[in-house]
Amino acid sequence: MSAQWLARRFGDLDALELVDSDVPAPGAGEVTIEVRAAGMNPADWKYMRNGDAQDLPYRIGYEVAGVLTAVGPDTEIGSGGGALGDEVLAFRIRGGYSARVTVPAKDVFAKPAELGFPEAANLLLVGTTAAEMLDVTRVSPGETILVHGASGATGVSVLQQARLIGARVIGTASETNFDVVRRFGGEPVRYGDGLQERVQALAPDGVHAALDTVGTAEAIDVSVALVDDRSRIVSIAAFGRAEELGYRIIAGRMPASARFRDAARARLIEMAGRGELVVPLARTYPLAEAIDALELLRSEHPGGKLALIP
Ligand SMILES: NC(=O)c1ccc[n+]([C@@H]2O[C@H](COP(=O)([O-])OP(=O)(O)OC[C@H]3O[C@@H](n4cnc5c(N)ncnc54)[C@H](OP(=O)(O)O)[C@@H]3O)[C@@H](O)[C@H]2O)c1
Repeated sequence: MSAQWLARRFGDLDALELVDSDVPAPGAGEVTIEVRAAGMNPADWKYMRNGDAQDLPYRIGYEVAGVLTAVGPDTEIGSGGGALGDEVLAFRIRGGYSARVTVPAKDVFAKPAELGFPEAANLLLVGTTAAEMLDVTRVSPGETILVHGASGATGVSVLQQARLIGARVIGTASETNFDVVRRFGGEPVRYGDGLQERVQALAPDGVHAALDTVGTAEAIDVSVALVDDRSRIVSIAAFGRAEELGYRIIAGRMPASARFRDAARARLIEMAGRGELVVPLARTYPLAEAIDALELLRSEHPGGKLALIP
């Protein structure tokens, strides 16, 4: 038996229940992980609002880090091998908000010793999203890009990966978070009225691409005003105007995104192991306090990643 958060109906956070449920023994191609930290993402609560009925009961949580406690017959994890007691991370899985979880072995990777469990549990959803944003907008060395929400979890991963590419990043944030943007190599700019002019003052020759992690009308309007080639604007949060304005949208549920992100996992774990990609953590919560943690995440200013500790 294992403690696990799930929802039998979609709705507000009060539809989530902490239950004690059986954890199936792993079959061929599966492993069981004792969860040391469950990663948290806005997608977790957003899916509660408008999920697909065929996904009920909704087992919330797309990523975890922990220790292998059982390995199915003739089974290797995604990074090869896999023995009882190995420290691992897993993404894209279901049911991460659990004390123990049985998941497909292909989605499980050896955890670099350099990463703590809460950081490892939060590496891959934002890391692979950031990598895909940079890929679809074809960001190249020496280019200047605008990142909306640069102080957020996805933004900070974009900043670090853009620095490795050799691009210059102008990143929007609240003034209280300017130091976060600077720490990861970006040039901070305050969002709100006058954003376009402030970015133009920093980049008089224009910006080559815009990467939106925020989804506000302002982020899209300023991106469209500043970037000539709309195929070099991507949003992960403003889906409604993409067709009309001709910018790119990506999401883990889109088959091309899923393929890209699955293929990017191993490379991002190596980068984290080398210290090139860090995961700033705001705080951890006991697993039983998931609703409080989700409330903070929903504020859209969590100040870093959150993790649940069983
Ligand atoms: N489509 C996908 O594949 C995908 C993948 C990952 C995430 N997402 C989505 O992307 C968004 C960001 O996720 P995250 O995990 O990076 O979130 P996060 O860590 O909570 O960061 C949110 C960021 O938004 C900024 N922000 C809040 N209100 C703002 C406003 N009015 N104008 C400009 N910036 C504002 C905050 O900046 P300050 O705190 O500095 O004010 C903060 O840095 C969420 O909507 C999430 O669902 C989508």
